[in-house]
Amino acid sequence: LSPALTRAASLIREIPDYPEPGILFRDITPLLADAEALRVTTEALMEPFLGTFDVVAGIEARGFILAGAAAISAGVGLVPIRKAGKLPRPAASVDYALEYGTATIEMHDDLPRGTRMLLIDDVLATGGTLAAGRHLVETLGHTVAGVSVLFEIEGLGGREIVGDLHTVFHS
Ligand code: PRP
Ligand code: MG
Repeated sequence: LSPALTRAASLIREIPDYPEPGILFRDITPLLADAEALRVTTEALMEPFLGTFDVVAGIEARGFILAGAAAISAGVGLVPIRKAGKLPRPAASVDYALEYGTATIEMHDDLPRGTRMLLIDDVLATGGTLAAGRHLVETLGHTVAGVSVLFEIEGLGGREIVGDLHTVFHS
């Protein structure tokens, strides 16, 4: 890691037992609040994929923050992948497993088939969210140019179920 990225990593705050006992929560808000850390991590998220995507697709909710910054930086548009019931004209829905129960994500389809999308989220844990995001993009006939995540929690098998994965920081 470059000195700037090492410094950015030091701004990720570890919160034990949140949101429930036994979970070590990675809080990226101090990193987001720092101008240089936000800039270098946004650039590092996209670096391997520059020139290979037409839009950035961000996953609600925390993925939206990084995807917005990335889209502006790369000079492309942004597609929101939202939790169920938030979009007025969803073209497709994909269910995925959470630790307890299931969740659903949805996307509009306002772009031509074959649009190359860079999928972005803040954290990879089990990989369920990003695998569902990939499935959603591909269901609508688009192409996943890559999957990029700020922080990978290792040892939960996420990397194995999400292809073309690039991560900036890991546990
Ligand atoms: C968190 C995180 C990732 C996902 C990672 O989102 O922001 O999207 O979990 O977990 P996974 O790899 O096991 O799927 P969460 O669903 O808590 O919601 P939020 O982004 O809306 O806060
Ligand atoms: Mg999330």
